[in-house]
Amino acid sequence: MSDSSRGSEPDSGTRKFDVDAIRADFPILQRKINGQDLVYLDNAATSQKPAQVIKALTNYYEQTNANVHRGVHTLSIEATDGYELARTKVAKFINARRPEEVIWTRNTSESLNLVAATWAETNVGDGDNIVITAMEHHSNIVPWQQLAARKGAELRYLAAGDDGSLVVSNLNSIIDSRTKIVAATHMSNVLGTINPIALLADRAHEVGAVLLVDAAQSVPHMQVDVQALDADFLCFSAHKMLGPTGIGVLWGKYDLLEAMPPYMFGGDMIFEVTYEDASWNDLPYKFEAGTPNIADAIATGAAVDYLTELGMDNVWQHEQELTAYAMEQVLSLGHVKVLGPQNPALRGGVISFIHDTIHPHDLGTALDQQGIAIRTGHHCAMPLVRSFDVVAAARASFYIYNTKSEVDALVNGIRETEGYFSR
Ligand SMILES: Cc1ncc(COP(=O)(O)O)c(C=O)c1O
Repeated sequence: MSDSSRGSEPDSGTRKFDVDAIRADFPILQRKINGQDLVYLDNAATSQKPAQVIKALTNYYEQTNANVHRGVHTLSIEATDGYELARTKVAKFINARRPEEVIWTRNTSESLNLVAATWAETNVGDGDNIVITAMEHHSNIVPWQQLAARKGAELRYLAAGDDGSLVVSNLNSIIDSRTKIVAATHMSNVLGTINPIALLADRAHEVGAVLLVDAAQSVPHMQVDVQALDADFLCFSAHKMLGPTGIGVLWGKYDLLEAMPPYMFGGDMIFEVTYEDASWNDLPYKFEAGTPNIADAIATGAAVDYLTELGMDNVWQHEQELTAYAMEQVLSLGHVKVLGPQNPALRGGVISFIHDTIHPHDLGTALDQQGIAIRTGHHCAMPLVRSFDVVAAARASFYIYNTKSEVDALVNGIRETEGYFSR
């Protein structure tokens, strides 16, 4: 694989999708946990990082480190070039019309809050409504609850059906002429459901509303094309797609971003400052106050290179195969209910499940003893998890380096835990 920290731009799918070779790129997969081989199945929370991404970080600090956009010296120019090249890579990855539409943030949560505090603060008023779905992460619920309370607006929900799919039969009455923004997850981090974004975009635009897509769980796993989706805003985090923590993306249509007020004030985001007043810089800098997260942006570029070399269609296909296998194996245990669509073709690589007799936290702790990392709890989607009359669920989630034998390890681990608890 190329040294992506130097800014190569590989074509899509130039590398064979060979899981053994992929695994060799991830140093952490050599670790033993409680004396066992690590089986990492908590990818929806955060992914592991390949050596190429780690190297991009160390390369930056060892060879380039300088502040961006304000220096005339070589290091500053190199840092600026690397930072902006990473933005260009992200823009290409999601098929943005121009790199200026890509704003670096801290994570998906900050991207969502940015839209709520700027676009929605300006455009949502008393008596308007905001529409979200019943399967949102807290990051895409709480900012809208707060905004609705501040503005005297109504927060409406599109329901999740018993089969885990989004209920759209009442779309035209929920999204109406007073709707200003529709904010929906592309893929549920609990149910794995893939939502019909293009349908939501059509209806939102029909009534003059904008559509915001929480793509935290989709951009890492499938080809996402912001133009094909016809979204207005789209948010994701680098740490779920092989990149570092502390950096995320807000993509928005240029004209919308251009019309929005800034989110934070300070250095870099201004055009001119007098003792009395200030004017704002061009996009994307208007939304990037202060010294940005330069190293992590560059490492995100390396993560995008890595995924691009594998090809997102191959990533998706690998996860679809694993998910179908895992659903079959987990359900064959007989004491387990899988939440969300039962047809693996309708979902992504996230399997949340409830065991008839073992509490998810007990299960998670017992599996950890066997080196298997899963998530347990409400998955930052308390209202949704509670709608199944439980307060917690176990969740296994997959990525490019997971294998069928790791699924077998999970299923055997659950079986072993059942044996322990039935003693
Ligand atoms: C669907 C979804 N939205 C938003 C988030 C929040 O992402 P972050 O914690 O990186 O801000 C997550 C994280 O799990 C998520 O799964």
